[in-house]
Amino acid sequence: MHSSITVSAPGKLILLGEHAVVYGKPCLVTAVNQRMTAKVSLIPEQILKLEAADVQVHAYQKPLTELGGGTIPKGARFVEMAVKNFAEKHALKQGVSIDMSSAFKATFGFGSSSAATVCIVKALFELLHIKQAQKDIFDLAYKTVLDVQGKGSGFDIAAAVYGGTLLFMNGGAVIVPCKVSSVPLVIGYSGIKADTVTLIDQVKVKAEKYPAVIAGIYDQMGALVEHAKTALEEEDWETLGELMNTNQGLLECLGVSISKLSEMIWAARGAGAFGAKLSGAGGGDCMIALASKDRHKIVSSAIENVEGEVIEVETGVEGVRVEK
Ligand code: PMV
Repeated sequence: MHSSITVSAPGKLILLGEHAVVYGKPCLVTAVNQRMTAKVSLIPEQILKLEAADVQVHAYQKPLTELGGGTIPKGARFVEMAVKNFAEKHALKQGVSIDMSSAFKATFGFGSSSAATVCIVKALFELLHIKQAQKDIFDLAYKTVLDVQGKGSGFDIAAAVYGGTLLFMNGGAVIVPCKVSSVPLVIGYSGIKADTVTLIDQVKVKAEKYPAVIAGIYDQMGALVEHAKTALEEEDWETLGELMNTNQGLLECLGVSISKLSEMIWAARGAGAFGAKLSGAGGGDCMIALASKDRHKIVSSAIENVEGEVIEVETGVEGVRVEK
């Protein structure tokens, strides 16, 4: 019987439909090849031990009976709550020692917390020899995210569990893989760290002020995602790019773009990208541009010329997996 296992899960990039997806509309999300890795061991002491150097957590320890209580360092919240939720659901009788490491900077907004949560849930299922479907991992991990941050659509959890490129909707009631192997993207990091919950709250204030206007924007975002799925599967990049630009316009209406992102987006378009938009909550983090192979370099340079940091990623990669 294993008492130790290593599991990894991918980060994500949202292609279209952010914000509206929080309110039941569909979004398109792709898993990227920057992975979170967790070595998880069962130990005799009834404690959680955590080492996560990337988020400044060192030699953190807590009795299993106290999980979720007291002050929890920011970098330990998702992992601790994942262990707590798993223990409550599946009668975890041993302690757990976890060593997390990440291939990506948490600041990029690639979903490091969600990927970490998924790693822990998957590892505990495996260590306890409990047969699980992907949806079982999703459900426990999504509950964990809601327990920690109170809101979120769950699209990032789906990307970490299932991998590939997905149409995601309604808190995971709809998770449909798209028939596409990879999407030719150029990613630009703004250098500004965004806080997802703050941005969701900002949009909520606007929606309370202009309910019919914002509801209309969400409807349009939902409609363009449905079109985009077809364009994506047909590799019709021109249409997909146009829809990305349209989506960016609607995100501007929500007030979540910032001048730095807009500058990078316009630079990419000017260099011949099919389309470009912010990716995620806005307020910082990353933008994405869709560009043919022969334009990849020139679009990258254009983003760098306006001080964006280009990050090379592969899309549509495998979801959570056991490493050894
Ligand atoms: O900031 P990110 O990359 O986690 O994306 C947030 C996307 C939102 O739709 C704004 C929130 C969500 O949970 O769907």
